[in-house]
Amino acid sequence: MKFFIDTANLDQIKEAQDLGVLDGVTTNPSLMAKEGITGEENIEQHYRKICEIVDGDVSAEVISTDFDGMVKEAEHLVTLHPQIVVKIPMTREGVKAIKYLNDKGIRVNCTLVFSAGQALLAAKAGATYVSPFIGRLDDISTDGVALIRQIVDIYNYYGFETQVLAASVRHTLHIIQVMEAGADVATCPLKPILGLLKHPLTDIGLEKFLNDHRNAGK
Ligand code: G3P
Repeated sequence: MKFFIDTANLDQIKEAQDLGVLDGVTTNPSLMAKEGITGEENIEQHYRKICEIVDGDVSAEVISTDFDGMVKEAEHLVTLHPQIVVKIPMTREGVKAIKYLNDKGIRVNCTLVFSAGQALLAAKAGATYVSPFIGRLDDISTDGVALIRQIVDIYNYYGFETQVLAASVRHTLHIIQVMEAGADVATCPLKPILGLLKHPLTDIGLEKFLNDHRNAGK
């Protein structure tokens, strides 16, 4: 399984990379805007900076919505760095673009996926990753983790190679749940990743070990 961090914040990306368990980064236009990154040149420069921090795949999203625009942007984005994977939205034009780009050897992360049917189309079109947004499903009283399980089952049954990238992962328990469901990747902010570290019995146990060591022979 892989951990991606879902942010465009360079400090957080560095912190996750420093932990030694980071496999990649996902971004989207909202996350770039949150960091105040605007303008084509700055955005491209930011993607390059992210690629220099991490070793794995870095998702960069197109903002065009028509086939020609998406393909043109995708073909340009992959020239920025070999680690770039192009994020294409799950739309009719998007599916066509995924198929076209896959045939040309360009890797795609199909984003904004909310159903098994959409995931099936993404896999048929040849997406490298499919990104079901589990938190946004939970937000509307629909079980996001159940969707991950369903997609994993379908992909396994038919032998699709598309990797299931659980996105919109909001908290630490979500990470565990999507891993139990068989997701290939979980992408989330830094906080839920750091949450995996925590257990009070670890802190209590460590304190006792250190105290016993200090008091030994006294
Ligand atoms: O990976 C997709 C993610 O950025 C969306 O997360 O929390 O805005 O639903 P959220």
